[in-house]
Amino acid sequence: MVAVTIKSAKEIEGMRIACRLAAETLSAVGKIIKPGISTEDIDAFVVADTKAKGAIAAPLGYKGSGNVPFPKSVCTSINEVICHGIPSKGVILQDGDIINVDITHIVDGFHGDNSATFYVGTPSDEAIHVTEVARRSLELGIAEVKPGARIGDIGAAIQEFAEGQNLSVVRQFTGHGIGRKFHEPPAILHFGERNKGRRIKAGMIFTIEPMINVGEWHAEILPDQWTAVTTDRKLSAQFEHTLLVTEDGVEVLTKRDGVLENSEIFSDWTPRKVES
Ligand code: MF3
Ligand code: CO
Ligand code: CO
Repeated sequence: MVAVTIKSAKEIEGMRIACRLAAETLSAVGKIIKPGISTEDIDAFVVADTKAKGAIAAPLGYKGSGNVPFPKSVCTSINEVICHGIPSKGVILQDGDIINVDITHIVDGFHGDNSATFYVGTPSDEAIHVTEVARRSLELGIAEVKPGARIGDIGAAIQEFAEGQNLSVVRQFTGHGIGRKFHEPPAILHFGERNKGRRIKAGMIFTIEPMINVGEWHAEILPDQWTAVTTDRKLSAQFEHTLLVTEDGVEVLTKRDGVLENSEIFSDWTPRKVES
């Protein structure tokens, strides 16, 4: 297995700053979400806000494992788009849409990565269900993180909950280690088995970012080489945080102040009762 770096105190300080600023931009995006704006408008807002914070938008020109550089500064993934949606002038937010906005800032060489799904206008019951299950899935994954636990514990907690809610977990994309690189080991699967995988150690920094689907879990990449959609074109929702493993648990580096507008609006939502 490839080594997972344990971050130094100095690196952790750098990551705290990048993550805090990425969280602030995501919160600011929440305030502009409404029917009628385009995903290009979201990109323009992120470009300006990122610059104002003295940060660099990591997505622009990022190549990942493919050859095609990502053409914009933020990922905007609407409805059946699982992740890596490309902002465009022609894509206008419609009443009832759900949209994941994924923000990654680079500050002093360190990456801070976070995303949330927002409601555009009035959502359907199905949109609320998949979005709130995705939100809770991330929380349940985070609750597993502490030194001595294993990476498989995270995926198991998420899969058990999401499938129990009659939804599926995307397998093609994972959480990831992060630091001076956007994506580094370990891969954090959002499905799997308890007591499997590598041990979690203090000083590791990684993301958890479950993508939860209404229908089947399979993803398909569109000809633009980036946009990942559900093969059955049913809804998908996602939330992401960057996390530091501490001596006694976890610090959410991308934690927000206050309520996330147009997202944290169903405080009365509760999971469906599971038939036994
Ligand atoms: N932010 C995404 C993640 O959570 C990665 C986006 S890669 C990009 O890992 F090039 F599309 F920006
Ligand atoms: Co990520
Ligand atoms: Co991200």
